[in-house]
Amino acid sequence: MTKGIIISGGWGTRLRPLTCTIPKPLIPIVNKPVIERQILLLRAAGVTEIILAVSVMADVLKNYFKDGRDFGVSIQYTDEKVPMGTAGAIKLAEDYLKDDNFFMLNGDVVLNFDFSQMIKKHEICKGIGLIASKVVEDPSRYGVLIVDEDSSKINKFLEKDDYVPPEGKIVPMPINAGVYLFEPEVFNYIVPAKKVSIEKEVFPKLADEGNLYNFPITGIWKDIGKPEELLEGNIQMMTEILKDSNGQKRNLIDNSLDIDGKALIYPPVAIGKNVILRKNCEIGPNVIIGDNVYIGDNTKIKETLIYDEAYISENVNIEKAIVSDNCVINNYVELKGNNQNLVILASYVQVLDGIKLIASSNGSIKVCHHEVVSEDIKFY
Ligand code: GTP
Repeated sequence: MTKGIIISGGWGTRLRPLTCTIPKPLIPIVNKPVIERQILLLRAAGVTEIILAVSVMADVLKNYFKDGRDFGVSIQYTDEKVPMGTAGAIKLAEDYLKDDNFFMLNGDVVLNFDFSQMIKKHEICKGIGLIASKVVEDPSRYGVLIVDEDSSKINKFLEKDDYVPPEGKIVPMPINAGVYLFEPEVFNYIVPAKKVSIEKEVFPKLADEGNLYNFPITGIWKDIGKPEELLEGNIQMMTEILKDSNGQKRNLIDNSLDIDGKALIYPPVAIGKNVILRKNCEIGPNVIIGDNVYIGDNTKIKETLIYDEAYISENVNIEKAIVSDNCVINNYVELKGNNQNLVILASYVQVLDGIKLIASSNGSIKVCHHEVVSEDIKFY
């Protein structure tokens, strides 16, 4: 039986300060942790035995998923004292994975394709590894696959810094989408008890030997390594879920919403449980709100993620921001990011009355957990 391993033990430094209190694999994508969505995709393809390769904040992850029963699967955990790299992490699970092929997932990608199609293709290709790929306009930030279109064979795997665009021109290329299907032979390529990277030390070798194949995926795909990607990944997933509802729904709103008749919602918007929207507030487009959130009179929010238990008072303006759990935003506050740089508040941040936090194209505004913001921050 095909099993699955999700690597979910990195530091998530690029998503700090959010990841100072929430491990990256539990960061919500439309109000569900990113790896919970992956577990559901594995389960839909009949993969019910899953390992989480945890390290950083391992206890928080174990406490959330426990033995997996509540998610319809069985979950075990590796014991990785310090992060061992993307290949070192799976080497620790060799005994458990040595009998059959298995999926390996990066726990920080948002996607929504049918994993059972990947199993079918792997049976045809018969390589040691099959990599899910996505064609992107600018491949320079990703591992690039040089593929033989006829055989699906990957002739070369070039990790981020090794890819040089032809004649310096950026052209769309298939890139590593962070989902793989392996035969247990892959373990022969990983030195034990050492930090090893699957992308840098294993894939180039497998490709050179003709043992690596390509599985192009359709539909949404987003690596949520950086804050602006996290916002974009959430919006893509919300749009995808709404699409699956046959265009009948324009928002994803829990029935418990307590909304004043004069509040306005501009789709698409997702709202969790026990949310209160007071009068004349304007929410959307592209806003995702978690559970137990209060939003006061005349407050306007767009292009933003609000996590659970946030309290947002009256006459607040928020755009292009991520407001983590338990934040308190007082009256007349303005949080304004832009396409490149967001305003990011970590858990339990308090922003005092009338404060303005305005990002520029040169820098995001990031506030650490439990800080009280009492002065304006403006980047020009
Ligand atoms: P950054 O520090 O922002 O680069 O994030 P990261 O530490 O998560 O690294 P990266 O984005 O490269 O990781 C991709 C996926 O691999 C994520 O799901 C990580 O949790 C996971 N990962 C990365 N390194 C390790 C590791 O050493 N051990 C384990 N178990 N997982 C890892």
